[in-house]
Amino acid sequence: MVYIKSQRELDIMRQAGRLVAQILTELSQLVKPGTKLSDLDKKAEQLSVAVGGSPAFKGYMGYKYSLCTSVNEQVVHGIPSDRALKEGDIVGLDFGLLFNGLYSDSAVTVPVGQISKQATQLLRTTMQALYAAINTATPGKTLKDVGRAIEQVVNPHGYGIVREFVGHGIGTRLHEDPQIPNFEAAAPNLKLKPGMTLAFEPMINVGTADVKILDDRWTAVSVDGSLSAHYEHTIAITEDDAEVFTEWDNLYFNGILDHLES
Ligand code: CO
Repeated sequence: MVYIKSQRELDIMRQAGRLVAQILTELSQLVKPGTKLSDLDKKAEQLSVAVGGSPAFKGYMGYKYSLCTSVNEQVVHGIPSDRALKEGDIVGLDFGLLFNGLYSDSAVTVPVGQISKQATQLLRTTMQALYAAINTATPGKTLKDVGRAIEQVVNPHGYGIVREFVGHGIGTRLHEDPQIPNFEAAAPNLKLKPGMTLAFEPMINVGTADVKILDDRWTAVSVDGSLSAHYEHTIAITEDDAEVFTEWDNLYFNGILDHLES
């Protein structure tokens, strides 16, 4: 069941989304060689409370943290341990906020100092894939159209599009229907309508698309150990296009990704 949100719900999700974007921006600015993942998690929790919300992931299916931190070959759901980031790493920061009864959810992958050409290309492409999906998401288009738009950006690079994890509806719950594959799935095919609120979140590997879960039972990694990136926005379908609730104002990723054409 895909819920159409009321104007009031959309207003709250818009506020939640802006806060998520601000918090992710602040966390991204703390990313540098030596930063501990656990410190980013603590900061995420503090900021959630400071803005009058609560961290969406903490307690979700037994997850103990406010933030997911996925380094290098980690795809998603990386645990914010005491590991310190190193120059040349990339780190995915995935964060959701519950605010006045509604959720917004967003993720960025951030470079740690100078990163390789391969890593830069992967981040660029993954972000382009996200915006291609968003630009396709107008009323009357379908989830197949969204998946195809992502494939058209990613496939020419030969990267693997992760299939085990998908985007999702979002609203009064963190995960609502529909599931949103980041590729052109066979079925079902949902038509987009104004008032739908969706989290698009392509996860892209340099190598094979296959992932496995580590013994911690959370961290998903690429099976071939290749680099992986993830960007996510919460959006609403409007009367004529899509509104991004979690737009990262001035999030320039240390200057590396600042001129992305969408
Ligand atoms: Co999500």
